[in-house]
Amino acid sequence: MRQVSAEDILALECPQTLVTVNVYKPDGSATATTVGWAMIASGSPFYYAVALGKKRYALECLLARKEYVVSFPGDGQEKAVLFCGTHSGRKTDKEKESGFRFVRGAEVNAPLIEGAAANLECRLIHAYDAGDHTIIVGEVVTGHVEDTVLRLFNFGNTGFSPAKPLKVRT
Ligand SMILES: Cc1cc2nc3c(=O)[nH]c(=O)nc-3n(C[C@H](O)[C@H](O)[C@H](O)COP(=O)(O)O)c2cc1C
Repeated sequence: MRQVSAEDILALECPQTLVTVNVYKPDGSATATTVGWAMIASGSPFYYAVALGKKRYALECLLARKEYVVSFPGDGQEKAVLFCGTHSGRKTDKEKESGFRFVRGAEVNAPLIEGAAANLECRLIHAYDAGDHTIIVGEVVTGHVEDTVLRLFNFGNTGFSPAKPLKVRT
């Protein structure tokens, strides 16, 4: 065993979960932020958690609106995922420039991503301070899946791609 830095440990988290957090900005346009630090936090009630950097524009909008969508981007949406992970909605119109097509959620006032493998409509339950991030825990009030679309994961230097589906036991 050798002692390592936080960066070394982070590099080991590969493949990594890949989601976007989508919210409406104060002007009513949609914005999405790419997030890798994400997990299911409770089964019943169904809570999903994401860690958002304190300077993220999505965090500011989410805390104001208290409703948002977590999307699992699908195969073919790699460019839009990278765009939303490298541009801030504070200065960019992601509705026009990201390549994602947004549509209003069914139960929350937040945007779904068309063609994503899944969209989870969430209401804010807790916001926990966690160092340089805020952990957002939301109740999933409803979800949508696209049965034929494979979910993307982050494979680090080799980019975003779907994980090879395992053969399900029959
Ligand atoms: C693959 C990938 C994973 C990321 N994961 C996170 C994350 O878990 N939390 C976070 O706050 N930012 C994460 N980011 C960075 C944000 O997506 C990025 O800073 C984005 O431009 C913020 O946009 P915003 O200011 O509109 O919220 C990630 C970026 C990429 C490309």
